[in-house]
Formats: sequence, structure tokens, C-alpha cells
Amino acid sequence: MIHDNQGRGEQVAKIPPGVGPRHPQVVVLVGATGDLSRRKLLPGLYHLCSAGFIPDWRIIGVSLDDIDAEAFRAIARGALTEFSTRKVDEAHWASFAEKLDYVPLAAGGEVLRAAVERAEASLGAESRRVHYLSVPPSAALPAVRLLAEGGLVERSRIIMEKPFGTDLASAVQLNARLHEVFAEEQIFRIDHFLGKEPAQNILAFRFANGLFEPIWNRNFIDHVQIDVPETLGLGKRSAFYEQTGAYRDMVVTHLFQILGFMAMEPPTALEPAPISEEKNKVFRSMRPIDPKDVVRGQYAGYREEPGVDPESDTETLIALKCEIDNWRWAGVPFFLRTGKRMAEGQRIISIAFREPPKSMFPAGSGVGAQGPDHLTFDLADASKMSLSFYGKRPGPGMRLDKLSLQFAMHDTGRIGDVLEAYERLILDAMRGDHTLFTTAEGIERLWEVSTALLESPPPVRLYPPGSWGPKSIHQLVAPHAWRLPFERAWRDPNTTGS
Ligand code: BG6
Repeated sequence: MIHDNQGRGEQVAKIPPGVGPRHPQVVVLVGATGDLSRRKLLPGLYHLCSAGFIPDWRIIGVSLDDIDAEAFRAIARGALTEFSTRKVDEAHWASFAEKLDYVPLAAGGEVLRAAVERAEASLGAESRRVHYLSVPPSAALPAVRLLAEGGLVERSRIIMEKPFGTDLASAVQLNARLHEVFAEEQIFRIDHFLGKEPAQNILAFRFANGLFEPIWNRNFIDHVQIDVPETLGLGKRSAFYEQTGAYRDMVVTHLFQILGFMAMEPPTALEPAPISEEKNKVFRSMRPIDPKDVVRGQYAGYREEPGVDPESDTETLIALKCEIDNWRWAGVPFFLRTGKRMAEGQRIISIAFREPPKSMFPAGSGVGAQGPDHLTFDLADASKMSLSFYGKRPGPGMRLDKLSLQFAMHDTGRIGDVLEAYERLILDAMRGDHTLFTTAEGIERLWEVSTALLESPPPVRLYPPGSWGPKSIHQLVAPHAWRLPFERAWRDPNTTGS
């Protein structure tokens, strides 16, 4: 952990060179009092600043709320108390708070510009601007216009929150409008799943080792599941969610991006352009999603929630099959599922290997009885991996049991070094590194393959809250079965000898 109470000088020394930006940063945080800002962005910025990742900074909150800087500081402090996963140090908070300012959206571009110039003047040294748009899709272009009116495009980068449009036409239009103001290299479309440590570990696992890449294809892999059930409901987000639904909120963004890392060819270099190129090739090879291969679910009781249409057709769960029609993956189904108010909160990628062509084991030995061998990635911040296989049960005869090799990031003793996804991505954007961001082309292609589904969605099926979804999710994967719920629990890294 990079925490200590010895003042910033010592902390700076612990940050490896090159991980943070070289120049001080002026952050314009649009949507500063919203849910994402309070949960993730303000706590994340506080950590990055107070731990010494950023040489110096000023943060200007902007939102619809007609409040002053003092009230914004109180909101930020409340957010840290409620949501920071790390202890808040009072001295660090005091120096963070005095660098917070606020401009109500209604004040307009000129007033915002004056605040940015004040911030830049107080920094003295040469600085850079980062605009973070934490706003719903309908507010994205007005916010871009505000920045343009204020003349704040120069020396700036802009971080955009998903969803990027709601279908192909709106994504193309959003990108075109955005490009009228910002050049593509200034734009950072954030997909926070790519900032999760275990998502980056997929790249390390695949390309830093010679062991798995030779079997990473249709000859050895039977099918893949990317499964992200959530127990949480919608809280105060029903207005946003009613317009969005599980497919737009989670699949077209997070799950497809993870699929891109899982399925891409080795890039020519671990650099933004080659990585984007390989991910985009995966998306280009994706077959259009066939509505027949999709199950849409809605948890019972959703329509009675405040802000939800009593006849709402919005899906709170989606499960689907998709295929990547290229030499590596042709014929290998990828099953994706995610939903709200489900039985468990998990984020896994599960890779099922083909079974041996012939079994010489006696009837009743148990071979194959517990499904195929699996490689499983748990995408939780404290990530885990497991490789399951059949092995002989000790004793006479030949009885087989499913065994597993498991690794937990806890085992490394470095779990405290993990940056939260948003922290990692904000830092990368400040350094101008696009590696973990999505491109206009990639996003537009993902909307393109979604067109048939968005135009003719299958009807929503009700599921009981706390379940794994409507019954038809099982038909979707047959003759395979969903990996979750796991038949065997992960080994607990805190208990030894189990
Ligand atoms: C967000 C979605 O992007 O990701 C939420 O809008 C979802 O609906 C969240 O709950 C999940 O992210 P995480 O990091 O909590 O798994």
C-alpha cells in the first residue's frame, strides 16, 4: 500500500517513475455530484492525488446543482467517508479540499473558463486539462459544447463515460459531433472493466506465457462463458436504467470488451494502436447477434419500482450466445450473461476445454461426470484463477475426481497495490495512454452487430429476484450448462491446508 502519514514527499518516492503524468492537471469533472462521481471518481481522484501519483492538481466540479465550492467540498468529503475503500487521512484531505472548486452548469462556458484559468494560474507550472464527462448520453454533447464555448479544448483530454450512444446511428452521430471539437487522440472512452487488474491480467496470462496460447483456439476450446451476475438492484438509477437496460448498460460495453481481450490475436506490440487493432478485428469477425440466441429477463417487482414504467419492457437480465467467425474461433460459442438482483455477485470468464476423444476409464470411474476441464478467471479486484482437471482418487481401483490448481492474487502479498479500475484509467488518460480505452470504430461495430437485437428484441421473461434468471437461460446453453453457481467453492486463500 502506498499509505503513510509522513507527508507527500516520501510517498512520491514510492511511486515508480512513469506511472503518473509529468505535468500538473486541471480536472473539470462534469456530473461532479452524481452517483458515479461520489462512488468512484472523487474517492479515486483523492487517492491518486494524496498518494503522489499526480504532481499537482486542481479539480473543478460542474453539475446541474446550484451550489458553491464550499458545498461541493462537503459533498466530496461525504463521498469519501461513504465510499472510499481506504482510510481518509485528515491532512491529505485538507490539502485535497483546498484544490476543489465548483461552477454550476448554468453559469456557462465563460465562467468555467475563468475558473480553469484561475486554477492554471495557481498551479504556476505548465499544466494539462482533463475533462471528465460523468453524464448520461443525452447530456454528453451539451457538455462538449460547453467546453468548446469556454475555449477549453486546447491542451486537454476528454474522458467520456459509456454508453456511447444507444444504437449504431446515435453512436456514429456522437462520434462525428465529438470529432468536430476534439481530435480522436484527445478522446478517452472509458470502459472501467478494462481498468480492472484481472482484465489486464488476461493479457499477461495469454501473452507472457508459452503454456496456454497454443491451446487458445477452436481445436481445444469447446465454449466460453463470460458471466457477470449482480445482486444489487437499481438504487436511484431507475431513470437511467429504464432507457438503457442490461444489454446497453453491460454487454455492449463491458462484456464485449472483456471478450475482445479474451479472443484477440497476439498484438504486434503492447501498445494502444496494435491492441485496439486486434480487438477491433475480433469485433469485425463477430456475427450479428441473432435475437433467437438471446434471453431477456426482468426481475419480478421491477415495474413497481419508483421511476419505472408499470408496463416497462426494459430487461434487467440478458443472456446470449455470440460467435466469432474467424480461423481461431469459428464454431466456438461464447455465452454471455449479466443481470441485476440475481442470486450471487460474480464476474467470471470460464473456458471449457474439449473432452478427450476416447475414454479408456472403466464405467463408473467418474470420468467426465463433473463436466469438462475448465480454466476460470475471477475478475474481482482480488482476482483468482483456477484450472480444473480430473485426477485419480487415492486408494484402490480407478476412481476419478475433479481437482483444481488455484491461484489467488492474495497469495502474492501485493493485493494492496491494486489500483481501482477508475484510478488506473484516469491516470492512463492523464498520461495520454489509450491502451485500455475503446475506439470509435470498435464501438460502432459493436452497435452494428447489435442492430437486429435492438430492432426485434425477444419478449422479456420474468425471474424471481435472487435467482439465476428465467428458465430459458438453460435452453440457451444446452447441451452445456452454466458454470455458475459453482459446484465447488473457490479455496479460501486465508485458510491454509484446505
Ligand atoms: C456499470 C454499470 O458500468 O458497471 C452498472 O452501469 C454495474 O449497472 C457496474 O453495476 C458494475 O461494475 P463493477 O465494477 O461494480 O463490477
